[in-house]
Amino acid sequence: MSSEKTNQSWGGRFSEPVDAFVARFTASVDFDKRLYRHDILGSQAHARMLTQAGVLSEAERDAIVAGLDEIRGEIEAGTFEWRVDLEDVHMNIEARLTERLGVVGKKLHTGRSRNDQVATDIRLWLRDEIDAILVELNRLQAGLLQLAETEADTIMPGFTHLQTAQPVTFGHHLLAWFEMLSRDHERLVDCRKRVNRMPLGSAALAGTTYPIQRQVTCELLGFEAIGGNSLDGVSDRDFAIEFCAAASLAMMHLSRCSEELVLWTSAQFQFIDLPDRFCTGSSIMPQKKNPDVPELVRGKTGRVFGALTGLLTLMKGQPLAYNKDNQEDKEPLFDAADTLRDSLRAFADMVPAIKPRREIMREAARRGFSTATDLADYLVRKGLPFRDCHEIVGHAVKYGVDSGKDLAEMSLDELRRFSDQIEQDVFAVLTLEGSVNARDHIGGTAPAQVRAAVQRGRTLLAQR
Ligand code: ARG
Repeated sequence: MSSEKTNQSWGGRFSEPVDAFVARFTASVDFDKRLYRHDILGSQAHARMLTQAGVLSEAERDAIVAGLDEIRGEIEAGTFEWRVDLEDVHMNIEARLTERLGVVGKKLHTGRSRNDQVATDIRLWLRDEIDAILVELNRLQAGLLQLAETEADTIMPGFTHLQTAQPVTFGHHLLAWFEMLSRDHERLVDCRKRVNRMPLGSAALAGTTYPIQRQVTCELLGFEAIGGNSLDGVSDRDFAIEFCAAASLAMMHLSRCSEELVLWTSAQFQFIDLPDRFCTGSSIMPQKKNPDVPELVRGKTGRVFGALTGLLTLMKGQPLAYNKDNQEDKEPLFDAADTLRDSLRAFADMVPAIKPRREIMREAARRGFSTATDLADYLVRKGLPFRDCHEIVGHAVKYGVDSGKDLAEMSLDELRRFSDQIEQDVFAVLTLEGSVNARDHIGGTAPAQVRAAVQRGRTLLAQR
């Protein structure tokens, strides 16, 4: 047996060294070293608990806690030597601790397994990630409220089928984004509760024979609850899947917002300007200014959907309890969290910099018979059944298309050809302002409602 090739952590049972390629193939340290901070926190809590349980002496605990602090220092200073032959972050740190402390270092792993260790680390890591993501999400939502308030009176066309439908206010449109993101916030906060449950103490799968005190580690690590079953604790990654599902929905929303930004900055729409710092040019076409940031967010959405699908597939065939398959949970989870966090950050930076081109938006709303429904509603108020009104206005629109006139540009005589119920007061409802002001109820597009919704949004953010 060549001991330098055999992993010291389990060498006892093995009669030949692990194949060099297999060692690389099974190692995860290249990506899971990212968990080092949480791994150390978990180990320190475990050591403290072991002392309370009478398994480690106070001196041993103090040496372990201090040794781990120093190892964190080495990692952060870039002097720590990560070894692939030590497979993962857990064994790299433990081996270094033993190198520093000798026999005391070897006692840290009493009453636990890498199985509950890694499950604990990922949960601690993800809990912090969710908190950082929520900070960016809040910043973005606050920016949306600010812009919505400034643009409460700005009129733009609202679309269905990407065809001009009815006038809306730009503030109202932005608040639709705000609503989507509020649900994403709720989902992440809810998901965090299930992330924040402690598997530590499950040991390899069945629990441990030591008199561990799980409420102690639970409190030290700030978990909300102790996982109730050791087999489940080391095995399930549903919390990571749930996070990827919430992240996928959030990315889906950001992708839709991105799509609108891309459309609005195009020469065909020209509804907004994005500052140059969020765009790039073309190496061949000198006139180009491309909305790269929203395009990339739209593009990156696929990675997060991929992570969700990958993790669901990873989990679905696994029997209880821990299987090495689970080592594959990390890269997709890390990537999903990074992608969501970066995308939210990009949006939070970009939204306050959006410059609306109000005249162009307004002109687009004026075209396309966007107040046709208002005319129909007007006729309903004069006592006609809605279906008849719909038909009358349809004839008026057809006339407008043929004669090149918007409804508001027709004379009273022209309009009365379609119904003698139409009177001078019709022009008030055919204007863009008349149209948006009339939708004056909770959730409607009227500027007064947009201002009220901004206030509700501010209260919501303040309560978080
Ligand atoms: N690197 C492993 C993982 O990420 C740690 C747990 C390994 N446990 C084991 N019994 N091989 O899942």
